Amino acid sequence: QTPSPDAVPAGAREVTKVGIVGSGTMATGIIEVFAKAGYQVTFVARSEDKCASVLKSVTRSLEKAVQRGKLAEADRDATLSRITATSRLDDLAPMQLVVEAVVEDLTVKQALFSNLDEICAPGTVLATTTSSLPVIECAMATSRPSDVIGMHFFNPAAIMKLVEVVSTVATAPDVEATVLGVSNKLGKHAVRCGDRAGFIVNALLFPYLNDAIKMLEAHYATADDIDSAMKVGCGYPMGPFELLDVVGNDVSLAIERELYLEFREPGFAPAPLLEQLVTAGRLGRKTGKGFRDYS
Ligand code: 3HC
Repeated sequence: QTPSPDAVPAGAREVTKVGIVGSGTMATGIIEVFAKAGYQVTFVARSEDKCASVLKSVTRSLEKAVQRGKLAEADRDATLSRITATSRLDDLAPMQLVVEAVVEDLTVKQALFSNLDEICAPGTVLATTTSSLPVIECAMATSRPSDVIGMHFFNPAAIMKLVEVVSTVATAPDVEATVLGVSNKLGKHAVRCGDRAGFIVNALLFPYLNDAIKMLEAHYATADDIDSAMKVGCGYPMGPFELLDVVGNDVSLAIERELYLEFREPGFAPAPLLEQLVTAGRLGRKTGKGFRDYS
C-alpha cells in the first residue's frame, strides 16, 4: 500500500529545491514529476536549445494531462512556474537533492558526480537514475559516498508509479529515508533494493525482452504475434517490441550488457539483432524507427 503523501520517514533531510541533470526522455519526465509535486526544480541541459526542447516537451505533457482531466489549468501553470532551465551546473549549488539522468555511460556519470561533489553544499543528497550501472561506482567518484543513492524511475516517468530506491553499501540511512519521503511526495510507490545489476524490475524484465528478440531472430513468430500474445495472453499493457521501442534500444542494450557482465548467464548475452539495431541508429520511438517504423 502506498503511504500517505505527507508521510516523511524519521530522519529524512529537508528537500524543497531539486536539481535535475539531463535532457533526455527520463530527465524530461522526472522534471515534470518533481515540479508537479510542488518542488522548485532547476534542470541542467547541455545547451540553450536543449533547455528549450525540454521545456516544450514538459509543456506538451502537462497540456495532455489537462486535456485528460488529470490536471487543472492553474496547476499546469503553477507547475511550469516552478521549473528553471539552465546550462550551468554551478546553478545547482543551493539544491538539497540532485537527480542525475544523463546518458548511461559510467565515465560521463562519474565525471558529473565528481563535479556535483565540488558544487553542492554538504548534506545535498546526490541521486542517480541509472538503470544499468552500479550506484557505488558513482558514489566513489565523490568525497561523500554516504550521500549517494539510486532513484530509478520507469518510462514514461510521468505515468509509471514505481521508484526503485537503491542503497549501496555506503549509503547513509537518513539519505535512504530522505529519498523514500521524496518518492512518496511525488505520488510514487517506492521499493527498496540492493545495488545489483537490473535492481528488481530490469533483472526480471530484460531476460524476457531478450528472449522475445531471439524468438523473432529465429523466425519462430512475428513481432506482431509475439506482442499480441503477451498482451492478450498475459494482460501486459505492451508487448515486448512495443516496450523495447519505448524504452530505447540503446538503453535496453546497456542494461542487457550489465546483466550479462554481472550474472554471466549464457542466456543473458544480448541478442545480436538488438546490437545491430543500435548500430544502425534504430533506437526506437525517439529516433522514429526501432523494431517498428514510427516515421
Ligand atoms: N499526465 C498525466 N497522466 C497521464 C498522461 C499525462 N501526460 N498521459 C496519460 N496519463 C494517464 C492516463 O490518464 C491514464 O490514467 P488512468 O488509467 O488513471 O485513466 C494512464 O496514464 C494511462 O494512459 P492511457 O490510457 O492513455 O495509455 P495506455 O493505456 O496506452 O497506457 C502506458 C500507457 C501506461 C504507458 C502503458 O502502455 C504501460 O503501462 N506500458 C508499459 C510501460 C512499462 O512497462 N514501462 C516500464 C519500462 S522498463 C523501464 O522503464 C526501466 C528502465 O530502466 C528501462
